[in-house]
Parts: sequence; C-alpha cells; structure tokens
Amino acid sequence: FEPVKIAPSILSADFMNMRADIETIERGGAGYVHVDVMDGHFVPNLTLGVPFVKQLKKIASIPLDVHLMISNPLVQLPWFLDAGADIVTVHLEALDEVEGEVGQAIGMIKAAGAKAALSIKPDTPVARIAPHIGSLDMVLVMSVYPGFSGQSYIEGSDARVAEVVALAEEAGANPLIEVDGGMGVKTAGLVASCGADVLVAGNAVFGAPDPAVAIAEITAAAEA
Ligand code: DX5
Ligand code: ZN
Repeated sequence: FEPVKIAPSILSADFMNMRADIETIERGGAGYVHVDVMDGHFVPNLTLGVPFVKQLKKIASIPLDVHLMISNPLVQLPWFLDAGADIVTVHLEALDEVEGEVGQAIGMIKAAGAKAALSIKPDTPVARIAPHIGSLDMVLVMSVYPGFSGQSYIEGSDARVAEVVALAEEAGANPLIEVDGGMGVKTAGLVASCGADVLVAGNAVFGAPDPAVAIAEITAAAEA
C-alpha cells in the first residue's frame, strides 16, 4: 500500500522561473512533474511541446509525467519518448480503436522503456478502458474537461475512480490511478478514498503562497 503522490502541473507554474519552481516542488515532496501538452486541436488550448519537455528533463530529478492532449498522438509519441518522458499518457478519444491504435500507442511507449497510461475525458464511459487495462501502468481519470487549469472538480469523478478500481480487479491488473482536474485539499480525500494513487494539482499548488506547503497539505488531505 503506497501513499498518495502529488503531481504538480507546471502549466500553472511560472514559465520564466521554471527551474526554481521545479526545485520548490521537489523539495516539497512531489512525486512527479505533470506536463500538460495541448495542441489547439484535441483541446482548444495550446501549451507546450517536445522542445520544452527536452529542457525540463535536464533540470528535473523526479519523473516527468507527460499528459498528451493532442490529436494523432502516434505521430509525436516517438519525439516525446526521445525527449525523456518517463510516463506518457495518451487519450483514448484521440486514438482509433478499430485500427488498433490504442494498443499501438501503449506498445510504442513501453518499447521505449517508459510507463504507459491511458486517459479518458469525463464523458467517456470507463468501460472503454477494459480491453487495455492489463497492459497499462496507469489510468488517468479526468475530473474536468481537459483544456484549462483552474477549473472546478466535476462531481461524481470519484465514482469513476472506483469503476476503474473494479475493472482492474476483474482483470487482475494493478495500474496506478491518477486523477487530474480541480484537485486540492477539498477534493483530494474523496478520490483517494476511492483508490486514486496520484493526484495532479496545478492551481492548488502553484497558486498557493508556498507550493511546497500546499503539496504537504494536499497529501495530508488525501490520507485523512
Ligand atoms: C487540464 C489539465 C490539468 C490541469 C490541472 O486539461 O490536464 O492537468 O492543468 O489544473 P488544476 O489543478 O488547476 O485543475
Ligand atoms: Zn493534465
């Protein structure tokens, strides 16, 4: 039984002082650096890409958790893997299941020695993960509609975490479960008690006066 880990989203960090912000969250005990990649197509927002991840890899000492909110992820996957992503999350909705693209993406990530994760948007039935759960290192349950930081947690996302737990048990699989969107001291306990292992937090960490303290507080709230 592992304690819950926090993955601060650097989308809410100070891009002009990234090194200092990474050092702060590492000192605060963050488990991963969560990197939100948006392409202006799969989601309306446009954030950062491969060159940024490459630079980040040089300064981070904890694993990079790269969340790809992009269309056609199979095209860019090799580049993100080369750039040093440690965990790579692709969206189920961005892949053609009939063409076997989900399996292909997971295979590419694992062949590069990285950990493979699959994410679903709030409206995507959890059951659609079932065929893949045995080959996943992590499942990312979105608790907001992807695209922007600072949104409110969507009620009922905790029940979706519980659904993933049940699916995994049925399949004899044991992926980490990550929750992303609107996480903070008020919501952490809810999803953690349903079985979440990793909590992404953008605004609640980098919007706090001391991000290191915020990480400790969210961790405590998750374990309460
Ligand atoms: C949303 C992103 C999240 C987001 C989290 O599309 O995937 O990682 O930046 O931000 P908060 O914690 O502020 O909701
Ligand atoms: Zn994210």
